[in-house]
Amino acid sequence: MNIMLLGAPGAGKGTQAAKLVDAYGFAHISTGDILRKAVANQTPLGLAAKKYIDAGELVPDMVVIGLVKARLQEPDAEKGFILDGFPRTVIQADALGRALQELHKKLDAVISIDVDKGVLIKRLTGRRMCAQCGAIFNVVSQPETGNGVCPACGGSLMQRDDDTVTTVTNRLDVYERSTAPLIAYYRDKGVLRRVDGNRPAESVFSDVRAIVEG
Ligand code: AP5
Repeated sequence: MNIMLLGAPGAGKGTQAAKLVDAYGFAHISTGDILRKAVANQTPLGLAAKKYIDAGELVPDMVVIGLVKARLQEPDAEKGFILDGFPRTVIQADALGRALQELHKKLDAVISIDVDKGVLIKRLTGRRMCAQCGAIFNVVSQPETGNGVCPACGGSLMQRDDDTVTTVTNRLDVYERSTAPLIAYYRDKGVLRRVDGNRPAESVFSDVRAIVEG
């Protein structure tokens, strides 16, 4: 099954993707993760992407389209994939449609995770990620992570550079302007499903699971 998770920054795309990977073993294709890894490794892609990520702006379409096209052709995508953070513009969505056609693949569901703006800001500024295993936590809803140690693997919990209030505010504006129109885009294609993402992650996941298994 091939799924896209659509939603604002902090909606819980990465959190739900991790649960889907655990439950079904789908390949997780996160453009944010690919770009952050490139930044950490100081590759040419990372050096080019860093200024956009730090400012909360989108990396140019042609860069991310090329990355995703290549990633979709890796062997693990055969067993089903989850797109997380891609597409983010209509140009990217059109390019994805063409790429999937060329690869004889299709999207089974586009799941929009809907969360109120005030909740998003709190979630993003409280987010911590494990530098070692990549697990996602929140110091507000999971106070036990306030000691900076990953409960899953014992690694160090870090705050993402783009989770400051100023950058988060810009990311939410960019989302409204460039990405929110994709909700109507995929509704018109008949593949859109919506879930209320304001609830605890496990409740959101039971709706996501119902879509996957429905
Ligand atoms: P990216 O990494 O894709 O970030 P994003 O879309 O802004 O989304 P986030 O990762 O911030 O949030 P999420 O929805 O995954 O939430 P999470 O599960 O972590 O992109 C980063 C940057 O890379 C972009 O700004 C851009 O520069 C660039 N980029 C990436 N893709 C691109 C593209 N296609 N084109 C151009 N540029 C691109 O959860 C957030 C927090 O909330 C966590 O603390 C979590 O524990 C908590 N939480 C999650 N769910 C719940 C819940 N149900 N209840 C309570 N807390 C919850």
